[in-house]
Amino acid sequence: MNLEFDLILAGGICALTKDNGGVSFEETSIGIIDHKIHSISQGLENKFTAKKILNAKALHILPGVIDTQVHFRDPGLTHKEDLASGTLAAIAGGVTSVLEMPNTKPAITTRELFLQKCESTQNRIWCNIGFFIGATEKNKAELRSLENLYACCGIKIFMGSSTGDLLVANEDSIFEILSSTKGPIAVHAEDEELLAQKKKDFEGCHDVLQHANIRSEQVALKATQQITRLAEKAKRKVHILHVSSQEEMEFLRDRKQYITVETTPQFLLMSAPDCYEKLGTKAQMNPPIRSERHRLAVWHGLENGTVDVIGTDHAPHTLEEKALTYPNSPSGMPGVQTLVPLMLDLVNQKKLSLEKLVELLCHNPARIYSPKAKGHLRVGFDADITVVDLKKQKTIENRWIKSKVGWTPYDQIKVSAWPFASIIRGQIAMQEDEIIGNPKGSLIEFEQR
Ligand code: DOR
Repeated sequence: MNLEFDLILAGGICALTKDNGGVSFEETSIGIIDHKIHSISQGLENKFTAKKILNAKALHILPGVIDTQVHFRDPGLTHKEDLASGTLAAIAGGVTSVLEMPNTKPAITTRELFLQKCESTQNRIWCNIGFFIGATEKNKAELRSLENLYACCGIKIFMGSSTGDLLVANEDSIFEILSSTKGPIAVHAEDEELLAQKKKDFEGCHDVLQHANIRSEQVALKATQQITRLAEKAKRKVHILHVSSQEEMEFLRDRKQYITVETTPQFLLMSAPDCYEKLGTKAQMNPPIRSERHRLAVWHGLENGTVDVIGTDHAPHTLEEKALTYPNSPSGMPGVQTLVPLMLDLVNQKKLSLEKLVELLCHNPARIYSPKAKGHLRVGFDADITVVDLKKQKTIENRWIKSKVGWTPYDQIKVSAWPFASIIRGQIAMQEDEIIGNPKGSLIEFEQR
């Protein structure tokens, strides 16, 4: 047979998808033709020619990691990030696809703005990208058609205000959106009314240590209970973003029929008051990083299957902005570039299995958002691949960060594993910390809803 591959990944330990959906690790080779995984078979490199062979011996080959929650600030706030810098940060960190949030300036809430945003990706995105459409009181009747726009990963509802002006706090409106649409809905669950009350109670407070008391666990729990009730009433799936508290994890544990759950690396790795004492307002995000009992409960939720997905909530703000006095300091921190090394380090610490990591970062994002032919190492799927070295010790440093803001809350943290290469639809985009060639990302196509 006269087959020539574009690329063969030779002899890595591959996280293959089993027939029942789980992961099996096999030492084998992956042959890529025309952006797709064409063959998975041992010794392909000895039997066929290839334009390029990447020796992957002793490396682990994972489905391309999907970061399900990033804010790339484009349009309007591009001094913090833009689609080029954000996607560059992604591939530098081993992330091959991202789902990007609509709280830009203006917020992405209309067909026209959505199409403009898609248009603006041409020749400048380094990884694959899907975009959320923001829900508002004004566009709620149109969301059914907007959710099926090409590259739309789903609808985002802010139940409580955060960065930007997106907000749907009215219960009837939220229910109307749930019952009139069919695709993924990602929810920022903080209760607006309770939050306003808490802000009043703490008026004049300039201490970031109070952030988790203002945006308290009750603020989060109330909204999480409400959206769960509405999802059950509408009999439709809802995805709750960045779940941060013990109370929510315990509430959600037995209520997974219509709910999927996301949390962030921050909630697994940091807790109050330490994070605020060490990082000040750099650790400020919404919902907040909470006390140790919450961190442990998030771990518990991960172990008992309550948590489906880890997304970073990459939300860059400049150091100057972050240095403003609380509460004028904006909420959010960068994260897309540090996701893979931090999570792999947890694997090496035996806090998480590599199989579970693949489920959280690849399989489950694909299950929830249904991108076409992504999220698994399978013949016929897009050749989006994250190659990692589980034996490479490195220190995360601000100067490695490609995000425009140039900082990470994990500066000087030592990790025991590192992304080796990011492969975007069959092309090597990053290898051993070097960015290769031109931007290779494309808009992600999703199943019709
Ligand atoms: O901390 C946050 N920052 N939480 C959000 O919900 C939004 C994000 C941002 O866009 O800055």
